[in-house]
Amino acid sequence: MKIGTDAHKELFCRSFMEAHNPYIVTELPWPELDDASLARLRSVPFWDEVFFAERRAGAMVRAYAETIQDPLVREAIDLQGFEEARHADLIRHMIDLYGIPASDRPISKLPADIETGFLDFGFGECVDSFLGFGAYSFGKRAQFLPDSLFAILATLLEEEVRHIVFFVNWVAYRQAQRGRGAAPLRALHSLWFHGRAVARHVQDIRDGQKNKTEVSAEERDRAKFSATQADIFPGGFNARAFLSECLSENARRMGAFDPRLLRPSLMPGLARGALTVLNVWPGNWGKPVTASKTA
Ligand SMILES: [Fe+2]
Ligand SMILES: [Fe+2]
Repeated sequence: MKIGTDAHKELFCRSFMEAHNPYIVTELPWPELDDASLARLRSVPFWDEVFFAERRAGAMVRAYAETIQDPLVREAIDLQGFEEARHADLIRHMIDLYGIPASDRPISKLPADIETGFLDFGFGECVDSFLGFGAYSFGKRAQFLPDSLFAILATLLEEEVRHIVFFVNWVAYRQAQRGRGAAPLRALHSLWFHGRAVARHVQDIRDGQKNKTEVSAEERDRAKFSATQADIFPGGFNARAFLSECLSENARRMGAFDPRLLRPSLMPGLARGALTVLNVWPGNWGKPVTASKTA
């Protein structure tokens, strides 16, 4: 498959659209949760942030789709926008159904340069999804929540996987169309946008720490019992075990796509490099940890 050709475009657009799952959020098999599971679900401090991010993603991706001339690419990106908005509906439904404490706020202004906004968003999804694979897998194995609820969250994660595979192919197609399809140029472009995604995350963490003094006592308590901390990583966080999980989940999920399609490669490559270092690093970072059920 020659990247940047019409055949490539047909393949990445049509395979993305054909794999669309037409589920209705309220008709998913939402389970009844016992008190312990409810407490755990409510302790996760970022559901309102996820809801906000998905809502903004839906609006931004659909706004970008409207600017695209090519009807096939436009249809595919508009479908992605629909799926992002449905993710927001799914998280909102979960918040309401299980009484999760979450604030509501209007979405922030969409970027003036909507195409760069879409590029930033897409490369950000490549970073987040790769890390999400490991977090999901650890949390599931540790039975942080019942499997029935993980199955619903898997619906969302599977769509994110389709999004990033579509995205990297669209970026490569776009680069080739602009005469920048050589592999080193594409790699540099990808590295630049991954760097921007990581810088945004670092800034978000800094902003979060700055605002720490302004959060309510309830939010502080929830943060203490954070799912991103020890509960998802029983025995404490272990970089090697986590990166290994991200890599194996990534390989499993990417294996389901047409072999002619490109896959996101930078995060798996960085993770493999980091693992090589951790394998010879002294101390606890390299010690494997097994996820187990937590109380
Ligand atoms: Fe999403
Ligand atoms: Fe997405």
